[in-house]
Amino acid sequence: MAPVEKTMESTWLQSRTVLITGATSGIGLATALAIAPRVKRLLLVGRDAALVAATTDRFHREFPQLDIHGITADLALQADTGRVAEWALTFPELHGLVNNVGAVFDQKALTTDGIERQFAVNYVNQVLLTRVLLPRLLSSADAQAPSRIVMVSSLAHTRAKPLTTEFAGLEPYVALMTYRQSKLAQAMFTVELARRLRGLPVTVNALCPGFTRTGIGTKHTQNAIVRWIWSLSSRFFAPVEVGAAKVVQVLADDAMHGVSGAYYEKSVQSPFAPLATDPIASKTLWDETCDRLKLPRELECSTP
Ligand SMILES: NC(=O)c1ccc[n+]([C@@H]2O[C@H](COP(=O)([O-])OP(=O)(O)OC[C@H]3O[C@@H](n4cnc5c(N)ncnc54)[C@H](OP(=O)(O)O)[C@@H]3O)[C@@H](O)[C@H]2O)c1
Repeated sequence: MAPVEKTMESTWLQSRTVLITGATSGIGLATALAIAPRVKRLLLVGRDAALVAATTDRFHREFPQLDIHGITADLALQADTGRVAEWALTFPELHGLVNNVGAVFDQKALTTDGIERQFAVNYVNQVLLTRVLLPRLLSSADAQAPSRIVMVSSLAHTRAKPLTTEFAGLEPYVALMTYRQSKLAQAMFTVELARRLRGLPVTVNALCPGFTRTGIGTKHTQNAIVRWIWSLSSRFFAPVEVGAAKVVQVLADDAMHGVSGAYYEKSVQSPFAPLATDPIASKTLWDETCDRLKLPRELECSTP
């Protein structure tokens, strides 16, 4: 890959429509700000209506040439995720999808869909959004410029154990372990989706942004000691622009043309954890996820 500063000269970014989830703070917002001067249209998804409004207003002011749109949705919920997908399909094109949304919940809870909420946000509903948007990503692509899906992963996936009862929630529930497991599932999906998309003009890759100074460790954490430790240690983490630059590299670098099913750490292609590339476990997870989301197990897509 080219150095970060060169990525912004990428021809891929020019005149594209890109959707970013978790775009009202942290790495997602910094990614949106980084690519705003180059893309044609940005679709931003956020959880908080006031933040979404403030963020889109900011982009209107700072990037008057940009076609900017925002939507508020709780991506823990399948109904809200479906609404985001329907909204995104009202735009004529989609060239890039950045599944950046992520959360760490220190308390176990099931969503109204009956799925443990951290697993729902960090994995299950990312599958839903990606699958529903896939036909539009395909129809917006051509062989010279495939559409690109980016999964914001984490080194944490390499510390996960084989998946067991994550859909229902681990027992006992441990926030960090659930985070690792959700990132492993997301990595398995990346590898499996890339395999199924082979020969089609859509790529999917994952990256770890590295330790980055954001609020992810404190937003949904009630334990004052954990909050204090995260706040203290995150002072030594990289600023959001550094984490976002790694997302932008994988999304936009011209050298990513044709690369699919890859994982990047510190901007260098690295192996996924062996568990993420186990074909039997990946197929089992794929099938169960499709069944729970009432999606067909086979991709319904064809080249434009
Ligand atoms: N920070 C790190 O050190 C680090 C390291 C490795 C990987 N990552 C990954 O990087 C990605 C971005 O995280 P971050 O560090 O930038 O944290 P962040 O600032 O908390 O960003 C997460 C984003 O997701 C949104 N979000 C959370 N739950 C949501 C929900 N239920 N529905 C809709 N949106 C929701 C948040 O909305 P609000 O703006 O309303 O809070 C926020 O915009 C995540 O996938 C994370 O796992 C981060």
